[in-house]
Amino acid sequence: MNNNDPLSIDLNFQPIRVSTLRGERPIPFSAYIKIGDRHILYCRNGDSFEGERLERLKAKKLNRLFILEKDRPKYEKYLRENVDEAFDAHSNKDLLSKVLVIQGHQQAIAEEIMENPEDEQFYIMGVNSGQRFSEFIRKNELALKCLLSIKNEDFSISQHGVNVAALALSITEHFQRPELEFKRLDLLVLGALIHDIGCQGIDLPLQTSRLKFSKEELKNYKCHPQLGIERIRSLQHIDGIVLNIIHEHEEFIDGSGFPQKLVERQIDPYAQIVGVANTYDRLINLENKAPSEALKFMIIDSMGLHPLDMMKALQDALKKGHLLK
Ligand SMILES: [Fe+2]
Ligand SMILES: [Fe+2]
Repeated sequence: MNNNDPLSIDLNFQPIRVSTLRGERPIPFSAYIKIGDRHILYCRNGDSFEGERLERLKAKKLNRLFILEKDRPKYEKYLRENVDEAFDAHSNKDLLSKVLVIQGHQQAIAEEIMENPEDEQFYIMGVNSGQRFSEFIRKNELALKCLLSIKNEDFSISQHGVNVAALALSITEHFQRPELEFKRLDLLVLGALIHDIGCQGIDLPLQTSRLKFSKEELKNYKCHPQLGIERIRSLQHIDGIVLNIIHEHEEFIDGSGFPQKLVERQIDPYAQIVGVANTYDRLINLENKAPSEALKFMIIDSMGLHPLDMMKALQDALKKGHLLK
Protein backbone atom coordinates (compact mmCIF):
# COMPACT_ATOMS: atom_id res chain seq x y z
CA MET A 1 0.00 0.00 0.00
CA ASN A 2 1.24 3.47 -0.85
CA ASN A 3 0.84 5.50 2.31
CA ASN A 4 1.14 8.80 0.45
CA ASP A 5 -1.96 8.06 -1.52
CA PRO A 6 -5.03 9.40 0.30
CA LEU A 7 -7.28 6.84 -1.40
CA SER A 8 -5.27 3.92 -0.13
CA ILE A 9 -5.15 4.85 3.53
CA ASP A 10 -7.45 3.03 5.88
CA LEU A 11 -10.17 2.57 3.32
CA ASN A 12 -11.91 -0.73 3.08
CA PHE A 13 -13.26 -1.52 -0.34
CA GLN A 14 -15.80 -4.19 -1.10
CA PRO A 15 -16.55 -5.69 -4.51
CA ILE A 16 -19.99 -5.28 -6.09
CA ARG A 17 -21.31 -6.77 -9.33
CA VAL A 18 -21.51 -4.45 -12.33
CA SER A 19 -24.73 -6.19 -13.40
CA THR A 20 -26.47 -4.76 -10.32
CA LEU A 21 -25.86 -1.17 -11.47
CA ARG A 22 -28.43 -0.41 -14.12
CA GLY A 23 -30.78 2.37 -15.14
CA GLU A 24 -30.99 6.11 -14.73
CA ARG A 25 -31.34 6.08 -10.93
CA PRO A 26 -28.37 8.07 -9.53
CA ILE A 27 -26.08 5.99 -7.34
CA PRO A 28 -25.94 7.24 -3.74
CA PHE A 29 -22.31 6.12 -3.34
CA SER A 30 -19.10 6.32 -5.33
CA ALA A 31 -17.91 3.30 -7.34
CA TYR A 32 -14.28 2.48 -8.04
CA ILE A 33 -12.38 0.25 -10.40
CA LYS A 34 -9.34 -1.66 -9.26
CA ILE A 35 -6.13 -1.33 -11.20
CA GLY A 36 -3.31 -3.35 -9.73
CA ASP A 37 -3.70 -2.80 -6.00
CA ARG A 38 -5.22 0.69 -6.36
CA HIS A 39 -8.85 1.71 -6.41
CA ILE A 40 -9.62 4.51 -8.85
CA LEU A 41 -12.85 6.53 -8.75
CA TYR A 42 -15.00 5.45 -11.72
CA CYS A 43 -18.51 6.70 -11.02
CA ARG A 44 -19.21 9.52 -8.60
CA ASN A 45 -21.99 9.63 -6.04
CA GLY A 46 -25.00 11.11 -7.91
CA ASP A 47 -24.12 9.74 -11.38
CA SER A 48 -26.06 6.91 -13.01
CA PHE A 49 -25.23 3.75 -14.91
CA GLU A 50 -26.86 4.33 -18.21
CA GLY A 51 -25.86 4.03 -21.82
CA GLU A 52 -22.25 4.77 -22.57
CA ARG A 53 -20.88 4.27 -19.08
CA LEU A 54 -22.35 0.78 -18.90
CA GLU A 55 -21.26 -0.06 -22.44
CA ARG A 56 -17.68 0.98 -21.60
CA LEU A 57 -17.65 -1.34 -18.60
CA LYS A 58 -19.03 -4.18 -20.71
CA ALA A 59 -16.43 -3.52 -23.40
CA LYS A 60 -13.73 -3.79 -20.73
CA LYS A 61 -15.33 -7.07 -19.62
CA LEU A 62 -15.34 -5.80 -16.06
CA ASN A 63 -17.88 -7.53 -13.92
CA ARG A 64 -16.79 -6.08 -10.58
CA LEU A 65 -16.59 -2.57 -9.23
CA PHE A 66 -15.74 -1.52 -5.68
CA ILE A 67 -17.45 0.57 -3.06
CA LEU A 68 -16.32 1.73 0.34
CA GLU A 69 -17.39 -0.58 3.14
CA LYS A 70 -19.24 2.29 4.86
CA ASP A 71 -21.41 2.71 1.72
CA ARG A 72 -22.70 -0.87 1.77
CA PRO A 73 -26.10 0.06 3.30
CA LYS A 74 -26.57 2.78 0.67
CA TYR A 75 -25.70 0.30 -2.09
CA GLU A 76 -28.18 -2.25 -0.75
CA LYS A 77 -30.94 0.35 -0.52
CA TYR A 78 -30.22 1.49 -4.11
CA LEU A 79 -30.37 -2.11 -5.26
CA ARG A 80 -33.67 -2.82 -3.52
CA GLU A 81 -35.36 0.33 -4.77
CA ASN A 82 -34.11 -0.08 -8.33
CA VAL A 83 -35.29 -3.69 -8.54
CA ASP A 84 -38.63 -3.06 -6.78
CA GLU A 85 -39.38 -0.22 -9.17
CA ALA A 86 -38.54 -2.40 -12.18
CA PHE A 87 -40.82 -5.21 -10.98
CA ASP A 88 -43.60 -2.80 -10.04
CA ALA A 89 -46.42 -3.22 -12.57
CA HIS A 90 -47.69 0.29 -11.74
CA SER A 91 -44.43 2.16 -12.19
CA ASN A 92 -44.37 4.26 -15.34
CA LYS A 93 -40.88 3.26 -16.39
CA ASP A 94 -40.66 2.00 -19.96
CA LEU A 95 -40.38 -1.74 -20.52
CA LEU A 96 -36.82 -1.75 -21.85
CA SER A 97 -35.53 0.17 -18.80
CA LYS A 98 -37.31 -2.29 -16.53
CA VAL A 99 -35.93 -5.26 -18.45
CA LEU A 100 -32.38 -3.89 -18.22
CA VAL A 101 -32.59 -3.63 -14.43
CA ILE A 102 -34.27 -7.02 -14.03
CA GLN A 103 -31.86 -8.70 -16.42
CA GLY A 104 -28.91 -7.32 -14.45
CA HIS A 105 -30.48 -8.39 -11.17
CA GLN A 106 -31.12 -11.96 -12.34
CA GLN A 107 -27.62 -12.13 -13.79
CA ALA A 108 -26.15 -11.04 -10.46
CA ILE A 109 -28.17 -13.77 -8.70
CA ALA A 110 -26.90 -16.37 -11.18
CA GLU A 111 -23.29 -15.26 -10.63
CA GLU A 112 -23.61 -15.21 -6.86
CA ILE A 113 -25.16 -18.69 -6.63
CA MET A 114 -22.73 -20.18 -9.14
CA GLU A 115 -19.81 -18.77 -7.14
CA ASN A 116 -21.23 -19.57 -3.69
CA PRO A 117 -23.78 -22.37 -4.04
CA GLU A 118 -23.32 -23.28 -0.37
CA ASP A 119 -24.88 -19.97 0.75
CA GLU A 120 -28.40 -21.12 1.65
CA GLN A 121 -29.77 -17.67 2.40
CA PHE A 122 -28.80 -16.38 -0.99
CA TYR A 123 -30.23 -19.48 -2.64
CA ILE A 124 -33.60 -18.83 -0.98
CA MET A 125 -33.45 -15.23 -2.16
CA GLY A 126 -32.81 -16.55 -5.66
CA VAL A 127 -35.88 -18.81 -5.49
CA ASN A 128 -38.07 -15.90 -4.35
CA SER A 129 -36.72 -13.70 -7.08
CA GLY A 130 -37.45 -16.49 -9.58
CA GLN A 131 -41.12 -16.17 -8.70
CA ARG A 132 -41.11 -12.41 -9.35
CA PHE A 133 -39.19 -12.92 -12.59
CA SER A 134 -41.69 -15.50 -13.83
CA GLU A 135 -44.63 -13.16 -13.16
CA PHE A 136 -42.85 -10.30 -14.93
CA ILE A 137 -42.00 -12.33 -18.04
CA ARG A 138 -45.50 -13.80 -18.29
CA LYS A 139 -47.32 -10.50 -17.80
CA ASN A 140 -45.28 -8.47 -20.29
CA GLU A 141 -45.69 -9.75 -23.82
CA LEU A 142 -42.62 -7.93 -25.11
CA ALA A 143 -40.33 -8.65 -22.17
CA LEU A 144 -38.78 -11.73 -23.82
CA LYS A 145 -37.96 -9.79 -26.99
CA CYS A 146 -36.44 -6.91 -24.98
CA LEU A 147 -34.41 -9.34 -22.89
CA LEU A 148 -33.07 -11.26 -25.87
CA SER A 149 -32.14 -7.99 -27.58
CA ILE A 150 -29.43 -7.39 -24.96
CA LYS A 151 -26.23 -8.56 -26.61
CA ASN A 152 -24.22 -11.32 -25.00
CA GLU A 153 -21.05 -10.75 -26.98
CA ASP A 154 -18.55 -12.58 -24.80
CA PHE A 155 -21.19 -15.25 -24.01
CA SER A 156 -21.29 -14.87 -20.25
CA ILE A 157 -22.89 -17.99 -18.80
CA SER A 158 -24.86 -15.92 -16.29
CA GLN A 159 -26.44 -13.78 -19.02
CA HIS A 160 -27.08 -16.96 -21.03
CA GLY A 161 -28.75 -18.32 -17.88
CA VAL A 162 -31.14 -15.36 -17.71
CA ASN A 163 -32.08 -15.80 -21.40
CA VAL A 164 -32.64 -19.52 -20.88
CA ALA A 165 -34.81 -18.82 -17.81
CA ALA A 166 -37.02 -16.38 -19.74
CA LEU A 167 -37.29 -18.72 -22.72
CA ALA A 168 -38.09 -21.72 -20.53
CA LEU A 169 -40.84 -19.74 -18.76
CA SER A 170 -42.32 -18.64 -22.07
CA ILE A 171 -42.32 -22.25 -23.30
CA THR A 172 -44.23 -23.48 -20.23
CA GLU A 173 -46.89 -20.86 -20.89
CA HIS A 174 -47.72 -22.47 -24.22
CA PHE A 175 -47.03 -26.06 -23.30
CA GLN A 176 -49.92 -28.35 -22.54
CA ARG A 177 -49.60 -31.98 -21.74
CA PRO A 178 -52.53 -33.25 -19.67
CA GLU A 179 -50.41 -35.30 -17.28
CA LEU A 180 -47.82 -32.59 -16.75
CA GLU A 181 -48.09 -29.24 -15.06
CA PHE A 182 -45.12 -27.05 -14.28
CA LYS A 183 -45.99 -25.92 -10.78
CA ARG A 184 -42.56 -24.72 -9.62
CA LEU A 185 -41.74 -21.90 -11.99
CA ASP A 186 -39.50 -20.36 -9.31
CA LEU A 187 -37.29 -23.48 -9.43
CA LEU A 188 -37.46 -23.62 -13.22
CA VAL A 189 -36.05 -20.08 -13.26
CA LEU A 190 -33.37 -20.79 -10.70
CA GLY A 191 -32.30 -24.04 -12.37
CA ALA A 192 -32.14 -22.27 -15.74
CA LEU A 193 -30.10 -19.40 -14.28
CA ILE A 194 -27.38 -21.73 -13.01
CA HIS A 195 -27.78 -24.66 -15.42
CA ASP A 196 -24.22 -24.23 -16.70
CA ILE A 197 -22.62 -23.95 -13.25
CA GLY A 198 -20.35 -26.82 -14.33
CA CYS A 199 -18.82 -24.62 -17.05
CA GLN A 200 -17.29 -22.42 -14.40
CA GLY A 201 -13.65 -23.07 -14.12
CA ILE A 202 -13.39 -25.22 -17.25
CA ASP A 203 -10.74 -23.81 -19.51
CA LEU A 204 -12.75 -23.57 -22.73
CA PRO A 205 -13.53 -20.78 -25.19
CA LEU A 206 -17.22 -20.72 -24.27
CA GLN A 207 -17.90 -17.82 -26.61
CA THR A 208 -17.12 -20.13 -29.55
CA SER A 209 -19.68 -22.40 -31.18
CA ARG A 210 -19.14 -25.95 -30.03
CA LEU A 211 -19.06 -26.94 -33.69
CA LYS A 212 -15.65 -25.28 -33.72
CA PHE A 213 -14.32 -27.10 -30.66
CA SER A 214 -11.41 -29.50 -31.13
CA LYS A 215 -11.98 -33.15 -30.15
CA GLU A 216 -10.29 -32.53 -26.82
CA GLU A 217 -12.28 -29.35 -26.15
CA LEU A 218 -15.53 -31.12 -26.96
CA LYS A 219 -14.63 -33.95 -24.59
CA ASN A 220 -13.99 -31.43 -21.80
CA TYR A 221 -17.15 -29.51 -22.61
CA LYS A 222 -19.22 -32.66 -22.31
CA CYS A 223 -18.13 -32.99 -18.67
CA HIS A 224 -19.88 -29.80 -17.55
CA PRO A 225 -23.25 -31.24 -16.41
CA GLN A 226 -21.38 -33.87 -14.36
CA LEU A 227 -18.98 -31.28 -12.90
CA GLY A 228 -21.96 -29.08 -12.04
CA ILE A 229 -23.87 -31.79 -10.23
CA GLU A 230 -20.80 -32.96 -8.34
CA ARG A 231 -20.25 -29.44 -7.07
CA ILE A 232 -23.70 -29.06 -5.53
CA ARG A 233 -25.18 -32.52 -5.04
CA SER A 234 -24.31 -32.68 -1.34
CA LEU A 235 -25.88 -29.30 -0.52
CA GLN A 236 -29.12 -30.01 1.33
CA HIS A 237 -30.84 -26.75 0.43
CA ILE A 238 -30.70 -27.21 -3.36
CA ASP A 239 -34.01 -28.54 -4.68
CA GLY A 240 -34.23 -31.75 -6.71
CA ILE A 241 -35.66 -29.93 -9.74
CA VAL A 242 -32.63 -27.61 -9.81
CA LEU A 243 -30.24 -30.57 -9.48
CA ASN A 244 -31.97 -32.37 -12.35
CA ILE A 245 -31.84 -29.30 -14.59
CA ILE A 246 -28.09 -28.99 -14.01
CA HIS A 247 -27.44 -32.67 -14.58
CA GLU A 248 -29.83 -33.35 -17.49
CA HIS A 249 -30.16 -30.18 -19.58
CA GLU A 250 -27.80 -31.52 -22.28
CA GLU A 251 -29.63 -34.83 -22.68
CA PHE A 252 -31.70 -35.44 -25.83
CA ILE A 253 -34.84 -37.53 -25.90
CA ASP A 254 -33.36 -40.01 -28.41
CA GLY A 255 -30.51 -40.84 -26.02
CA SER A 256 -27.83 -39.01 -28.02
CA GLY A 257 -27.18 -36.30 -25.41
CA PHE A 258 -24.77 -36.24 -22.49
CA PRO A 259 -23.57 -37.06 -19.85
CA GLN A 260 -25.84 -40.06 -19.12
CA LYS A 261 -27.41 -40.67 -22.56
CA LEU A 262 -30.87 -40.68 -21.02
CA VAL A 263 -34.00 -41.11 -23.14
CA GLU A 264 -37.18 -39.06 -22.95
CA ARG A 265 -38.94 -40.91 -20.13
CA GLN A 266 -35.80 -40.69 -17.99
CA ILE A 267 -35.25 -36.94 -18.34
CA ASP A 268 -36.94 -34.59 -15.88
CA PRO A 269 -39.46 -32.48 -17.89
CA TYR A 270 -38.03 -29.34 -16.26
CA ALA A 271 -34.63 -30.28 -17.69
CA GLN A 272 -36.24 -30.97 -21.08
CA ILE A 273 -37.72 -27.47 -21.19
CA VAL A 274 -34.41 -25.92 -20.15
CA GLY A 275 -32.73 -28.09 -22.81
CA VAL A 276 -34.96 -26.59 -25.53
CA ALA A 277 -34.38 -23.04 -24.26
CA ASN A 278 -30.64 -23.70 -23.99
CA THR A 279 -30.33 -24.97 -27.55
CA TYR A 280 -32.32 -22.01 -28.89
CA ASP A 281 -30.27 -19.39 -27.02
CA ARG A 282 -27.01 -20.97 -28.17
CA LEU A 283 -28.18 -20.93 -31.80
CA ILE A 284 -29.12 -17.24 -31.51
CA ASN A 285 -26.08 -16.04 -29.59
CA LEU A 286 -23.30 -18.35 -30.73
CA GLU A 287 -24.36 -19.34 -34.25
CA ASN A 288 -25.93 -15.92 -34.96
CA LYS A 289 -29.10 -17.48 -36.33
CA ALA A 290 -32.28 -15.43 -36.70
CA PRO A 291 -35.23 -16.69 -34.58
CA SER A 292 -36.95 -18.30 -37.57
CA GLU A 293 -33.72 -20.01 -38.69
CA ALA A 294 -32.98 -21.28 -35.17
CA LEU A 295 -36.48 -22.68 -34.86
CA LYS A 296 -36.31 -24.33 -38.29
CA PHE A 297 -32.96 -25.83 -37.40
CA MET A 298 -34.36 -27.28 -34.17
CA ILE A 299 -37.57 -28.63 -35.70
CA ILE A 300 -36.21 -29.97 -38.98
CA ASP A 301 -32.43 -30.44 -38.86
CA SER A 302 -32.42 -31.63 -35.24
CA MET A 303 -35.65 -33.54 -35.42
CA GLY A 304 -36.06 -36.09 -32.64
CA LEU A 305 -33.75 -34.41 -30.12
CA HIS A 306 -36.41 -32.41 -28.30
CA PRO A 307 -40.10 -33.27 -27.68
CA LEU A 308 -42.19 -32.00 -30.57
CA ASP A 309 -44.85 -30.46 -28.29
CA MET A 310 -42.15 -28.42 -26.55
CA MET A 311 -40.87 -27.22 -29.93
CA LYS A 312 -44.40 -26.20 -30.82
CA ALA A 313 -44.66 -24.35 -27.48
CA LEU A 314 -41.37 -22.55 -28.24
CA GLN A 315 -42.73 -21.54 -31.63
CA ASP A 316 -45.94 -20.20 -30.03
CA ALA A 317 -43.93 -18.34 -27.39
CA LEU A 318 -41.73 -16.69 -30.04
CA LYS A 319 -44.81 -15.71 -32.02
CA LYS A 320 -46.56 -14.26 -28.99
CA GLY A 321 -43.38 -12.39 -28.07
CA HIS A 322 -43.21 -10.83 -31.56
CA LEU A 323 -39.95 -12.62 -32.30
CA LEU A 324 -41.49 -14.55 -35.18
CA LYS A 325 -44.05 -13.42 -37.69
FE1 LIG B 1 -24.92 -26.78 -20.76
FE1 LIG C 1 -26.34 -23.61 -21.51
